[in-house]
Amino acid sequence: MLEGLGDRFQRESKYVRGETLVGGMSWENLPEPYKFYNNVQIVTLPEPKKLSEMSLDEALRKRESIREYSSEPIQLDQLSYILWAANGIRNREANQEFRTAPSAGALYPIETYLVVSNVSDLYPGIYHYSVRKHELETLKKGNFTKEIVRAGMGQEMLRMAAVTFIWTAIFERSKWKYRQRAYRYIYLDAGHIAQNLALAATSLGLGSCQIGALYDDEVNLIIGVDGIEESVLYMSTVGQLAD
Ligand SMILES: Cc1cc2nc3c(=O)[nH]c(=O)nc-3n(C[C@H](O)[C@H](O)[C@H](O)COP(=O)(O)O)c2cc1C
Repeated sequence: MLEGLGDRFQRESKYVRGETLVGGMSWENLPEPYKFYNNVQIVTLPEPKKLSEMSLDEALRKRESIREYSSEPIQLDQLSYILWAANGIRNREANQEFRTAPSAGALYPIETYLVVSNVSDLYPGIYHYSVRKHELETLKKGNFTKEIVRAGMGQEMLRMAAVTFIWTAIFERSKWKYRQRAYRYIYLDAGHIAQNLALAATSLGLGSCQIGALYDDEVNLIIGVDGIEESVLYMSTVGQLAD
């Protein structure tokens, strides 16, 4: 079979004994692992408190991709908990903060955006999650359900979801150290985060599904990222279980 781009990437980003793929990074240029928006309306989130007694064992047994949701809203404290569980800060040390999901080199290339459609006490719109402050930055107010369904290839679950999480990467954060191999790690980082979300949603009695089938440029346009320095990788829907 003809070698394609993916095959070449896999081959050329291999670590081979005696060859160096990483290194040479300058510590003065260590990328900042947080993105902040200035001059936007901030939404304070409730403390991400434990809201469920479900064991990890039960969450693992119950987790499944759920693509139908009821029209009942999810609560702001549930959204707050899921945001934290997916990729929030679990521990602060002297000069480093560590998150609920692992990240290669603790470089944290993944950013979180929300398309909010049906969350109690939260205006529908597009938001960015400030990991460091555990708050939401309002990017656009309004109902963007139609746009996200279209960008997600018409998948109906996007119409029913109370909230859609959009995971992007700021590639340079990871490429600074790992160069082209960084792409492997960036995709893996996003996977860990989405699994945290799925288990957290399950533990709260909510449904969720991961979405890889999306028109990248269209999703990027909705959240206002350039698709080069930063681009969407993945999405997750969350909503109340349908009866
Ligand atoms: C990387 C990835 C991309 C996915 N993309 C979609 C998608 O675009 N649409 C969809 O309905 N399900 C999607 N899924 C969900 C899978 O179809 C689902 O995980 C699989 O069928 C196994 O079922 P389970 O999650 O219920 O165990 C995706 C899952 C993964 C891990």
